[in-house]
This record gives sequence, structure tokens and C-alpha cells, in this order.
Amino acid sequence: MTQPRTTNASSTEIDRAAAIIRAGGLVAFPTETVFGLGADATNPAAVAKIYATKQRPEFNPLIIHTPDVDSAAQLGRLSKPALRLAEVFWPGPLTLVVTKRPDAGIAEIAVAGLPTVALRIPDHAIAQALLRAADRPIAAPSANRSGRVSATRASHVADDFGSNVDLILNDPETPRGLESTIVDVTGNEPAILRVGAITQESIARLFDGNIEIGPTPALPSAPGQLSSHYAPSCPVRMNVTQVREGEVLLAFGTDVPAHSCPAINLSPTGDLVEAASRLFAALRELDQPGARAIAIMPIPNDGLGAAINDRLRRAAAPRPVVD
Ligand code: TXA
Ligand code: MG
Repeated sequence: MTQPRTTNASSTEIDRAAAIIRAGGLVAFPTETVFGLGADATNPAAVAKIYATKQRPEFNPLIIHTPDVDSAAQLGRLSKPALRLAEVFWPGPLTLVVTKRPDAGIAEIAVAGLPTVALRIPDHAIAQALLRAADRPIAAPSANRSGRVSATRASHVADDFGSNVDLILNDPETPRGLESTIVDVTGNEPAILRVGAITQESIARLFDGNIEIGPTPALPSAPGQLSSHYAPSCPVRMNVTQVREGEVLLAFGTDVPAHSCPAINLSPTGDLVEAASRLFAALRELDQPGARAIAIMPIPNDGLGAAINDRLRRAAAPRPVVD
């Protein structure tokens, strides 16, 4: 396993960036692929800011960055093929989708409610120094506005986000500009979910020339591919203004209907960023065996509200009949 390069970046800058991450802020940082827009992966409100800042239309799960294999292994179960790939390509532009550990401490919103987590150990001095100084796993998508080209220079990040990012760490070297290759190693057979900076051939070589391409049916790469998703075990009723008997309530804002049942308010002040950060955890908490349904108050459809409603519609969608 190669060692990451040592940093030339000013340690004062790195310390400042680490303090921002620990305080729930956003730091854009260079990696060997593209710039990432980073936040503390254990802090749901901080992660929600990533979605809001990127204007990402859906809660597409984020890659979680850690400094070394030991810290990665604390977050996800590294299967045999995962360890083989890690040995050869970490640190480096390889992202491994693995089964998340129940005690990983990663915010639900960072993994979009999935039981898996995408892990990456960047081979970049500044990214490494930041991860070590922050001492937190960092969730980071590419640091571009959704739909725009990935950022490979600090100035691209500034163009896209301006002062919405608390700090941009600069790098004299231009990174690869091609995102990491994503490999699903949750099953027996590894499968490439996104082609990227590491070639298919170099990965296939480790597995007797065999590697599947494309998401496996059991694990869609984009959760949006399924109409019924994020579905709690009890039914979901949207746009509720009156709570029915036996229901539990997911509230938003101040105009909460009368109720005597368990209830969680996503954001009493009507803040969509706060609501997004609490959504998946709140759905899980309200999903109790005795509940007839989760009644959900209307949520405005602007900003992050569109993504929240998209997820809620999927949670409320008719479910496939399984017998
Ligand atoms: O090179 C890179 O990978 C850069 C740098 C910053 O690390 N990051 C990056 O992130 O490209 P992003 O968010 O632009 O792309 C992440 C991809 C998304 O397509 C997402 O669906 C997929 O990773 N992903 C994340 N978690 C996943 C999971 N648990 N299962 C399947 N796909 C996942
Ligand atoms: Mg991207």
C-alpha cells in the first residue's frame, strides 16, 4: 500500500479548515480527482447544507472520506474483495460501496437512508491533512453546482458557490479531474457502479479478469430509480391537515394540527435545511409497529423541499407486492 504524500499546505489553514468542519461548516478541498465539498459526515445539519448548496435535486448518497483503512473499517464492513481492492488502490481514486456498520455514527442523510456506505481514502496531501486534523469522516460530493462540470480548481469552486462555502483550500497542482471509480463490494461479486479514474481492466485483473459493470438489481446506484423507496414499514399519508386516530405525526413549521399521538417536528421554524437533515432519522423513529400510518404535514416544494417531497412521495408510493 502506498503512503499518502506529506502536506506542504500551511498547517494554520488546515487547522482553520478542520475547526470549520467540526463546527458544522462547509470546506471545499482538493483531492486527487476533483474538489470535494466537505462536511462532517456525523452531523446531519452540516450534511444537509451540502445538498442545499449544491442544489442537488435529490438526496443522492454521498461519498464518505476517511484517512486510512482502519478508520474506513470502523464505518463499513470490508469484505474480502473490498480488502483486496483496498490493498492495491487505497489511498487513491477508488470508492468502495460496503455494508454500513450499525454503530458507524454516519448521519442518515449522508447515505440517503441506505444500509450501505460509499468509502474513499483520497491520495492527496491536503485532503489527508484535513481528514486527520478534523478527526471526523468527511462527506463530500464533487464541489460543483448540480448539473455543472466538476471543479478541478479552487476558482471553479468559488465561481459555483461564492461565499456559501466557508473555506476553500487551494492546491497548486491540478487534480485528475475524473471522479473516483465506484465499486460495489457488498456481494460476492464486485460490480463497477461508476467508471472513473481507475480503469475497469486494472480492477478486473484482481478478479481473474472478471468484473461486472452496472448496478446490481439489489442495489440501484441512484435510489431514484425505484418509485417505491425509503418506505417505512407502516403506511405514509402526505399533505395531512388533520391527524386520524392511530396515526403518528411528522410535522413541519408552526401550524401543527391538534394531536395526542407521538410526533416529531422536522423544523418548528420552517427551515428546510434543518428539515432535510432530520428527515430520514425522523421517519425511522416514527415507524413504530403500533402506528396505523405516518401522517405528514405539507412541506413547501422550494429549495430542499423538492427533494424532501420527492423522498416522501417515494415513501408513500404503492409498494411492490411481495409474497
Ligand atoms: O472522486 C470522487 O469520487 C469525488 C471526490 C470529491 O471524492 N466525489 C464525487 O462525489 O464524485 P459525487 O457525489 O459527485 O458522486 C458520488 C456518487 C453518486 O453517483 C452516488 O449515487 C454514489 O456515489 N454513491 C454514494 N453512496 C452510494 C451507495 N451507498 N451506493 C451506491 N452509490 C453510492
Ligand atoms: Mg458529482
